[in-house]
Amino acid sequence: MSDEHSHIHISAVGSYVSERVVTNSELASLVDTSDEWIYSHTGIRERRWAEGETTFTMAYFAVQDLLKRYSIHIDAIVCATASPDYPGFPSVASQLSERLGSRGPALDVSAGCTGFIYALEVGRSMISSGLATNALVVGSEKLSPLLDMEDRSTCVLFGDGAAALLLERSEEARWLKSYIKSEGGGASSLAIDPLRRAIMMDGRSVYTFAVSAIAETIDALLERNNLTISAIDWIVPHQANQRIIAACAKRYAIAEEKFYMNIERYANTSAASIPLALAEMERSGLLQSGQKIILVGFGAGLTYGGTVLVWK
Ligand code: ACO
Repeated sequence: MSDEHSHIHISAVGSYVSERVVTNSELASLVDTSDEWIYSHTGIRERRWAEGETTFTMAYFAVQDLLKRYSIHIDAIVCATASPDYPGFPSVASQLSERLGSRGPALDVSAGCTGFIYALEVGRSMISSGLATNALVVGSEKLSPLLDMEDRSTCVLFGDGAAALLLERSEEARWLKSYIKSEGGGASSLAIDPLRRAIMMDGRSVYTFAVSAIAETIDALLERNNLTISAIDWIVPHQANQRIIAACAKRYAIAEEKFYMNIERYANTSAASIPLALAEMERSGLLQSGQKIILVGFGAGLTYGGTVLVWK
């Protein structure tokens, strides 16, 4: 891999979630479910619902959080989202570009819950090709209006949130080779119904797909980068279900503690879940300079993939 492609790092992070917490018990007053069922089947205790906000406003608050701690003029903007405010234009990235006064490339990426992995690669390519000096990569999702409250096996799984990472050139190689795939044959097992504007999912088949997609991605990343799992400090997976991660860790003999999970508090925030986890890890001091981190995503499309970072 060329230096241009590997000498890029994450220089700053920011995040935003609404203060409105919806616990499993509150959901149980709306739907025929219980805290016990949801927690034991998913690992989720609560999620945020961003009432009165949009995918764009959440993205903007996450970017403000980043800029508060790391002031810089933004060049390129890439936003991963499965729940844009408008079905066409303006994109969330265009709205951010207008608000931030940036003039670099701006686009949304739609690849379901793997969207953030795809978006990172787009941002990285913009820098490595010389199109941009830096790239803001945002994941923002307002999934709460897309929940079918008649479908209890799906409506309990999702939440709202946003997070942003800034990519800049680095002196040393900080970003290793990625692995990104799709499996279009499974597309109908996870989709947003265009007429009802509601998430539809065949939970069982997505579960099976997710476990093998995570394992395939981790194996491919280790092989491509000539690493062993012991060289990896953290695996930050898309937060879809604690049981998916536990099954994966067990089947492939990876210590479960290597996987960072925060699904308990935010549920599945689709393309925002990986950057939200990274922002939380950074803030709580879990990320140390030089640590190797695998990011791995999977979701609608079906899509999956991951990358390996060396923390700043
Ligand atoms: N509360 C109470 N009971 C429920 C609920 C609920 N919320 N949901 C389902 N049940 C019941 C069902 O009705 C069924 O009852 P029955 O046996 O009497 O018919 C029973 O629980 C089992 O239902 P299943 O759907 O088979 O439950 P399962 O154990 O498969 O768990 C789940 C469902 C959690 C959705 C699981 O399939 C899963 O995690 N799938 C993967 C989902 C996922 O990761 N999606 C996102 C990935 S991609 C992305 O992020 C967009």
